Amino acid sequence: MKKQISPSVMCVDFFNLAETIAEFERQNIEYIHVDIMDGVYVPNYTLGTDFIKQLKKHTKIPMDIHLMIENPESKLDWFEFGEGDYVAVHYETTKHLHKAVAAIRAKGAKSMVAINPATPISVLENILDDIDAVLVMTVNPGFAGQKLIPSTLGKISALRKYLDKNGYENIEIEVDGNVSFENARLMSDAGANIFVAGTSSIFKAGQSMAENTAKLRDSIK
Ligand code: DX5
Ligand code: ZN
Repeated sequence: MKKQISPSVMCVDFFNLAETIAEFERQNIEYIHVDIMDGVYVPNYTLGTDFIKQLKKHTKIPMDIHLMIENPESKLDWFEFGEGDYVAVHYETTKHLHKAVAAIRAKGAKSMVAINPATPISVLENILDDIDAVLVMTVNPGFAGQKLIPSTLGKISALRKYLDKNGYENIEIEVDGNVSFENARLMSDAGANIFVAGTSSIFKAGQSMAENTAKLRDSIK
């Protein structure tokens, strides 16, 4: 599976956003990761519906929308997304997971189910026909700058094996949280192929974004 990078824009210097997006395009970045938090499911607020609308006006790079909101199935129409975009809903936030992922696909986008570090992969058993990817949270959702939870590395490889053994070789695995250059290598070897890049890699201080991107691509190849 193609190894792809999805920078987390909640980690960006917003006073330099336009230049950052232009650099993403120069670096052929595959997705832009947009964290949406409701202050309920996670104790934080980040970006919103209008930010996504604006972003889609300024770049052709597909969106990778990470919904950390309660009852997402009733709020999907608030967001602008479609062909080529990924939308992730958390397994822990809805009583109607199938309804949520079906609604995402109905809008022409690709569906993703996110699972927290303590949520077992077995919860995915009856939803695999309806999703295009699984987002394995490698930290507890809600904040950037956290440290990797080591047990999630074994979870990534167990998931990859489980998917391949059951005929779901096409389902991608995204990882999110402390995807540093070192951790990215371990996550890639474990079977991940989409890497949410934040404070510990693409936006790491001390090097340019071009240098950080090249270093990250080297880690995941
Ligand atoms: C956290 C978010 C992540 C976060 C990643 O809940 O989902 O996307 O921005 O930031 P780092 O890479 O610093 O862990
Ligand atoms: Zn995220």
